[in-house]
Amino acid sequence: MTTAAHPHPQNSSAVTTRVEWLTHFAGTDLQDLCAATEQAILDGNGFGWLKAPPRDKLESYWRGVLLVPERDLVVARYDGTIVGSAQLVRPPANNEAQAFAAQVTTFFVAPFARGHGLAHGLLDAIDVRAAERGFEAIELNVRDTQKAAIALYEKCGYVRWATKKKYAKVNAAFVVGHYYAKEVVPSQSTATGAATDSDSKVARMARRR
Ligand SMILES: CC(C)(COP(=O)(O)OP(=O)(O)OC[C@H]1O[C@@H](n2cnc3c(N)ncnc32)[C@H](O)[C@@H]1OP(=O)(O)O)[C@@H](O)C(=O)NCCC(=O)NCCS
Repeated sequence: MTTAAHPHPQNSSAVTTRVEWLTHFAGTDLQDLCAATEQAILDGNGFGWLKAPPRDKLESYWRGVLLVPERDLVVARYDGTIVGSAQLVRPPANNEAQAFAAQVTTFFVAPFARGHGLAHGLLDAIDVRAAERGFEAIELNVRDTQKAAIALYEKCGYVRWATKKKYAKVNAAFVVGHYYAKEVVPSQSTATGAATDSDSKVARMARRR
C-alpha cells in the first residue's frame, strides 16, 4: 500500500487527493494524464520533451508505459482526476550487475494541483514499491532549474552524488543537471526484482482535506 499524501495547512479546501498504482486506463484516465503532462511540459519540465508532442504521440507513450514489464506507473489524483505521475523503472534483465537499483522518471504534478502533498505521496509510494521489489537503491536525475523537485528530493532522503554541466540542452543553451540516489531497505522475503503481492493490486490512499 502507498502512504497518504502530506497535507499542506495552507491548502485546507475540501479536496480529495490520492495516489494509486495504475495497471490500466479507465474512463478519462488517459486523456487526463495527457492533459496533465502537457501542462507540466508548458510549465517547463517535460522529462525529455521540450514542447508538448501531438496528443496521439503522448497517448502512445503512456499506453506503452503500461505495457513495458520493467515499468510501474503510479499516478496522483486530485478530486478523482489524474494530475501527476511517477514511474519506477527496473533495469533490464541482462543488467544483473545493476539489478539492485531502480530509477524514477516522469515525476510531476500539474501546476494547478501542486501544494497538496501529492508529490510527497508519489515518492512515498515509490519508496514502498522499491522496497517490496527488493531494491537497495532508488536513483534519479533532475535539471538544476527544477528547484521544487530538488527541495523535495532532498527532504525525502535523496543524496546528490554527481552534477553534469551539459545535462540538457534547452533553447540552444546547456542546462546543468544533478544525479541523486536514495538507499532502500528491501522488504523481507523479496529478492531483487521479485514480484510481490501488491503487483496485481491497486494500492491507493485517500485523504479528505
Ligand atoms: C516537484 C513537484 C512534483 C512538487 O509537486 P507538489 O505536488 O507541489 O509537491 P507537494 O505538495 O507534495 O510538496 C512537497 C514539497 O515540494 C517542495 N516544494 C513544492 N513547491 C516548492 C516550491 N515552489 N519551492 C521549493 N520547494 C517546493 C517542498 O519541499 C514541499 O514540501 P513542504 O510542503 O513540506 O515544504 C512539482 O513542483 C512539479 O511537478 N514540478 C515540475 C516537474 C519536475 O520538476 N519534476 C522533476 C523532474 S526529475
